[in-house]
Amino acid sequence: MSKGKGTKGGKLSEAQIAVHWKEEEYIHPSPQFIAQANMTDADVHERFGLDNFPGCFKEYADLLTWDSYWHTMLDTSDAPCWKWFVGGRINASYNCVDRHLAKYKNKAAIHFVPEPENEAPQAITYQELYVRVNEFALMLRDLAGLKAGDRVTLHMPMVPELPVTMLACARLGIIHSEVFGGFSGQACADRIHDSGSRVLITMDGYYRSGKFIDHKANADIAVETAKKLGQKVDKVLIWQRYPGETRSQAKMVKGRDHIVNDELAAFAGKRVDPVPLAAEDPLFLMYTSGTTGKPKGCQHSIGGYLAYAAGTSKFFQDIHPEDVYWCMADIGWITGHSYIVYGPLALAASSVMFEGVPTYPDAGRAWRIAERLDVNIFHTAPTTIRMLRKAGPDEPAKYDYHFKHMTTVGEPIEPEVWRWYYEVVGKGEAIIVDTWWQTETGGFLCSTMPATQPMKPGSTGPAVPGIHPVIYDEDGKEIPAGSGTAGNICIRNPWPGAFQTIWGDRERYVETYYAKYCKDPKSKDWRDWPYLTGDGAMQSEDGYYRILGRIDDIINVAGHRLGTKELESAALTIEAVAEAAVVPVVDELKGRVPDVYVSLKPDFDGAKVGDQVVKVIETTIGKIARPKHVHIVPDMPKTRSGKIMRRVLAAISNTLDIGDVMTLANPDVVEEVRVLVQGKEKVAVKKGPADIARFGDDG
Ligand code: WTA
Repeated sequence: MSKGKGTKGGKLSEAQIAVHWKEEEYIHPSPQFIAQANMTDADVHERFGLDNFPGCFKEYADLLTWDSYWHTMLDTSDAPCWKWFVGGRINASYNCVDRHLAKYKNKAAIHFVPEPENEAPQAITYQELYVRVNEFALMLRDLAGLKAGDRVTLHMPMVPELPVTMLACARLGIIHSEVFGGFSGQACADRIHDSGSRVLITMDGYYRSGKFIDHKANADIAVETAKKLGQKVDKVLIWQRYPGETRSQAKMVKGRDHIVNDELAAFAGKRVDPVPLAAEDPLFLMYTSGTTGKPKGCQHSIGGYLAYAAGTSKFFQDIHPEDVYWCMADIGWITGHSYIVYGPLALAASSVMFEGVPTYPDAGRAWRIAERLDVNIFHTAPTTIRMLRKAGPDEPAKYDYHFKHMTTVGEPIEPEVWRWYYEVVGKGEAIIVDTWWQTETGGFLCSTMPATQPMKPGSTGPAVPGIHPVIYDEDGKEIPAGSGTAGNICIRNPWPGAFQTIWGDRERYVETYYAKYCKDPKSKDWRDWPYLTGDGAMQSEDGYYRILGRIDDIINVAGHRLGTKELESAALTIEAVAEAAVVPVVDELKGRVPDVYVSLKPDFDGAKVGDQVVKVIETTIGKIARPKHVHIVPDMPKTRSGKIMRRVLAAISNTLDIGDVMTLANPDVVEEVRVLVQGKEKVAVKKGPADIARFGDDG
């Protein structure tokens, strides 16, 4: 294990932090909210204190129905691969569907809202979900030949067939790996290959911003590319957006491609029992970006993950079965897995799924949906809030909906944006939780407890019960709690929602998340293994945390994680490109967007390179990764050992102070690049946000 790779920073000055943050006033939940809240017991934090660890998590486990109850809460013998609820047998599909039938079979499990406004929302009851999950599970078993432990890749948009597919997999113990629908076929292929999936499940097409997107074509690219990588896909199962009609222009491949809606007839009305699986068997993989080009398949367990998703949904999302809950995330990301599908359905809620873009066809769309379905819990990301605010700052008041609870997740939210969310979207009636967590963590790490802890705009709040953060400096020294000094935020203890490993790469799991602050690599004691989140943070005197952004080479674009290395590798596939460097630029709506710098090989013409770089990034990753600018530079600023100084490029892209560059191998290039990007006139430099000010800084 090497120390300190892939993480930088922790050396922020108070002044840098002060640029963004001042202490905000508390805002308290209303008596009406408190009166109906699921958790009003302020002692919960004490109950989940380290003295009661890990036994405290029995409260979460007991929200689920177990086929056989577990005997060991936490097994650390394979540290740092933690096992929770060992000896327990359980099925996630049973917990999210079957067990609700007795009481709630006629209640909507899912409200699907198609993007075209002339298509009415569809309510799928728990009974109907049960029927569809059973039929499709049988198709997975009998037509696709899948069984417990097999991986299957899903590349599906926001349609109810997606949770049906996930729950059908879960019913049989098939490990699903859903790839965000907006990712390209090539990006999907990498994930098919890494997970070893021989079955791909997709859809013919879907609506986005008023256009029907032919999605099946991506499956063909994915299968072809996966084959070149060495993974054969022998079956592609294609759902139809309009059952009975195929809307894709792509050709069907005989023997390989199957139209799900045709094949389902053979399974009509049939049932298959949920398989009782070991609590620590994997439920799904969720790929996320890392510091190298290769995405990491975060492996989540059945028992621990589901207990944590259910518990946090109950206490922090304040979900009751009678609530109509709308999380606007895409199920292709972890937020959708935990807080559209598994958490809410485990609690028998009605979960809303919206196919399209919340500002299409106009800025009132989201609020019309909220009014029509009488949504009372709303969940989205700062990017979307900024977008909705820009498109229609006064729209919410025009619609008759009332939220009791709202969530912000995915990036830091500016206090000004928070206030608009609170006053205008929430109409001053709804409480807000700012939930900080990650793909790896399965569920929330920090948030205020909605009924018992006041909100503070711009702060994620204290840690949630059972999570014990610690902030370290670069040298592994603990920064005193509540001191307002920035550092690398870690979690001292394991928790049930934490991922189990990186699929097929335990070494990378240990290296990335534990090596930096591990006290003894041989230890079987969880106290020796703090989990490195990869975020910078500080804790105020009142115990509330402020998340300052990533400390590694990851850019958070509109709440989605992109590895700079992934973009750089894509740019380097262009023949003319000699070197590529990607840095984050502040964007008013999306938080951060990537700027790409490329230098060319000698004797190559750069005329088309800008367009080529944009195109190759879109095809290898997807449109979400589209760069703001592509700068073609004569050379990269480099250290004497030849390392590209991304920090200097980030300063140029964001008009920050470039600092002293005289120790570089080629200091003159810096001014050349600056002029190219900013123009001849010197522009007044600004102070940058923490993640950008130290981006690419080796500390
Ligand atoms: C960032 C999304 C500030 C953070 C659930 C984290 C946040 C990364 C917040 C994980 C928040 C998430 N405030 N920053 N409330 N929530 N982040 O894996 O940098 O897509 O490490 O999971 O998003 O992104 P991921």
